[in-house]
Amino acid sequence: MQTKVRIARQFSQAAHCYDQLAEVQWQIGVDAVSQVTPTSGMLLDIGSGTGRISALLADKSGQVIGLDLAEGMARFASRTQPNKVGFLVGDADNLPFADNVFDYVFSCMALQWCQPISQAFSEVARVMKPGAKGLLAMMVQGSLQELHRCWQAVGQPAHVNHFLSLETLEQAAKQVGLSWQVQTRLYQTWHTSLRDALHSIKDIGAGVVLNPTRSPLSKAVIQAVERRYFENYQQQGLVPVSYQVAFMEIQK
Ligand SMILES: C[S@@+](CC[C@H](N)C(=O)[O-])C[C@H]1O[C@@H](n2cnc3c(N)ncnc32)[C@H](O)[C@@H]1O
Repeated sequence: MQTKVRIARQFSQAAHCYDQLAEVQWQIGVDAVSQVTPTSGMLLDIGSGTGRISALLADKSGQVIGLDLAEGMARFASRTQPNKVGFLVGDADNLPFADNVFDYVFSCMALQWCQPISQAFSEVARVMKPGAKGLLAMMVQGSLQELHRCWQAVGQPAHVNHFLSLETLEQAAKQVGLSWQVQTRLYQTWHTSLRDALHSIKDIGAGVVLNPTRSPLSKAVIQAVERRYFENYQQQGLVPVSYQVAFMEIQK
């Protein structure tokens, strides 16, 4: 099945439980919104999910449009945030809008799903009005690093996604004529087992691996990874999942 169809399907299926489970994503979203410059104009929220962050953005702009690849997410958001925001189904890589229409473009924890990132950045730049600003928050290199290292230590490719470096993102932004300023912040969640750690990713719909390998996930491999995970990262009986998040302030 095509990767985007799988991403949309998994997030759609998670829509009803996303807000209860995605606590760290809420914290990241609140931090991202705090960096948004208020505008009286139109704001686009790309990858709006359940719409809880879009609703916060409504207090900082004239009008908000939330757009998400997952129909189930857009439907859930329309039902739970009916007054403040208009929600649409659409793809960040092919935005369903004319050129130069938005005063502000926002996205939080969504653009790491877009490959190559240059396509999504080019679309962001295209729909921004000249002089418009934006805030793009996304996972970057360093995210899920404990899991990557443990899998590597047992000679296996990790069964979680890789994330882009800041250099790659900066280059992509500059290539489409966006000015760029970035800050990063590390967020961590703590878990009682490898299984619990992986479920914290999968249960919110974020379990699709973008470049999957065919290596089998045997019980022996899982046990070896788990042993490493606890030996190297355990604190008070818990192991971390790291989210290295870049907050990119852009301007066209
Ligand atoms: C981790 S959720 C974040 C939701 C919301 N922004 C928040 O912070 O609560 C990621 C969202 O991005 C959406 N998404 C993934 N790829 C996308 C794409 N190419 N275009 C638009 N949305 C996408 C997913 O469907 C999902 O709802």
